Amino acid sequence: MASVPSLASTVQQRLADGLSAALPEAASADPLLRRSDRADFQANGILALAKQLKGNPRELATKVVDAIPANDVLKEIEVSGPGFLNITVTDAAIVNTLAARAADARLGVPFNESAGTTVIDYAQPNVAKEMHVGHLRSAVIGAAMVEILEFTGETVVRRHHIGDWGTQFGMLIQYLIEHPHELDHKTEGDDVSGEEAMSNLNRLYKASRTLFDSDEEFKTRARARVVDLQAGDPETLAMWQRFVDESKIYFYSVFEKLDMDIDDPDIVGESGYNDMLHETCRLLEESGVAVRSEGALCVFFDDVKGPDGNPTPLIVQKSDGGFGYAATDLSAIRDRVGNLKATSLVYVVDARQSLHFKMVFETARRAGWLNDDVKAVQLAFGTVLGKDGKPFKTREGETVRLVDLLDEAIDRASAVVREKAQDLTEQEIAERGTQVGIGAVKYADLSTSAARDYKFDLDQMVSLNGDTSVYLQYAYARIQSILRKAGDAKPAAHPELALAPSERALGLHLDAFGELIAETAAEYAPHKLAAYLYQLASHYTTFYSECPVLKADTPEQVENRLFLCELTARTLHQGMALLGIRTPERL
Ligand code: ARG
Repeated sequence: MASVPSLASTVQQRLADGLSAALPEAASADPLLRRSDRADFQANGILALAKQLKGNPRELATKVVDAIPANDVLKEIEVSGPGFLNITVTDAAIVNTLAARAADARLGVPFNESAGTTVIDYAQPNVAKEMHVGHLRSAVIGAAMVEILEFTGETVVRRHHIGDWGTQFGMLIQYLIEHPHELDHKTEGDDVSGEEAMSNLNRLYKASRTLFDSDEEFKTRARARVVDLQAGDPETLAMWQRFVDESKIYFYSVFEKLDMDIDDPDIVGESGYNDMLHETCRLLEESGVAVRSEGALCVFFDDVKGPDGNPTPLIVQKSDGGFGYAATDLSAIRDRVGNLKATSLVYVVDARQSLHFKMVFETARRAGWLNDDVKAVQLAFGTVLGKDGKPFKTREGETVRLVDLLDEAIDRASAVVREKAQDLTEQEIAERGTQVGIGAVKYADLSTSAARDYKFDLDQMVSLNGDTSVYLQYAYARIQSILRKAGDAKPAAHPELALAPSERALGLHLDAFGELIAETAAEYAPHKLAAYLYQLASHYTTFYSECPVLKADTPEQVENRLFLCELTARTLHQGMALLGIRTPERL
């Protein structure tokens, strides 16, 4: 495994060397290199530097250029405008750097030298409740971030902070005790479907809620049951466990449909921190971070006020002694930093919970559980909207069942695959339809910046044109088909050949993969990877229409173009795998 420096970084280094040779006092100045339309790169840094030194920018630029020794990477450096540098690299440099990438299983992508341990909190549905589109976003964005971070060498611990505790369990458990067969399965053995599990839970939830709201005596029994649950009464806990297990059958069926690996030990729900809650409160109270206010244990913030102007506290313990969401999250921080040794905490959670996390992080800082060595961020995502721009609902105004949505995506994708299918069997169409449909849903989620609301529009998602995963999957499959047709001609790099403009553009984009990965990981911005892959497919499309591959002029050129095709395919495959999207060999 060898990491390959990008041409951008090589050029940057040459310019920096030239700068310090021409102007030793400016040795640390940044040449500010960018990709450019006019040449391969443009450096704008000299302009600012000259201003700062009160010198003539063009003169300084010329001096820098003269100080760069002849080499085989830089073909031309032109001083332009008020003092920009336009830089063109040699064709051979492009092919050589790509050959070095191709020789490496990681495509030359370096490991992050300051990698640490990230605990990422994502895919956290609630027990006995249907998953909704918000849970979908958390799962999809979180899973992509896990893969991206691991690819950079980060140690990643996954935490699925499911909602598996709270007073609602009193009502559910009491109902189940009084109606003991309500969670029985019609199906024998282990093959209970997620659908059956969820419909059992749904029915039970509704029935117990109705009873709770209409029958005072049941309400009293349900409340007493909450007390038993919190006291750890074995029979009550066993009943509670049945709800958790039943829900997990359902969760796993959805995650499987999403083509996502979730491991049981990583599911550490709210209940996983029960043993820590008292101590969390004691520590907060003793240190004065939290104070009693009307019986409740509260943390106050100068800048968090309600509409009436009064401060809105974070309530760690309610006046009746009950613990809530905040106590659990604070205990989880203690566990993740203290026991799991996290250097970063990432929460992939709806933006509507941002105030909660702001207060939780601030409290943990005051308590010393978070310090300068530990970063805590919420990777907040926006609301999923319907085509009409309103929060996503069915026509009847109900929340949409996630499973129905995924099935519909698969149906539509299968129709698209069938229409294009040339040599695919029925089974292949079904398989590809699933990969295309699920890929489409994930890509739509990942291709806009997470913080923004996004429109759930299945027609757009499975469209063959535009910024969709299907477009990327077709680009990949097309390359595989060319490679199959190549027969005896094998991909091989030929740095001695001159490149066409679209070959250079494709090559320079391929070369930027490593830097893009580093940026995506550092900013927790999977949409940057999605955008990169879309541009890659677009560069490839242009290349493919301008440069015949198998019918190129010489055998060397055929090999070199096959080489570009293959590296494009590998880069697409790697990038899409990080996003959790399959790349079928044929479509
Ligand atoms: N279960 C919560 C929900 O459905 C999300 C949990 C987010 N994670 C956390 N550590 N609070 O909204």
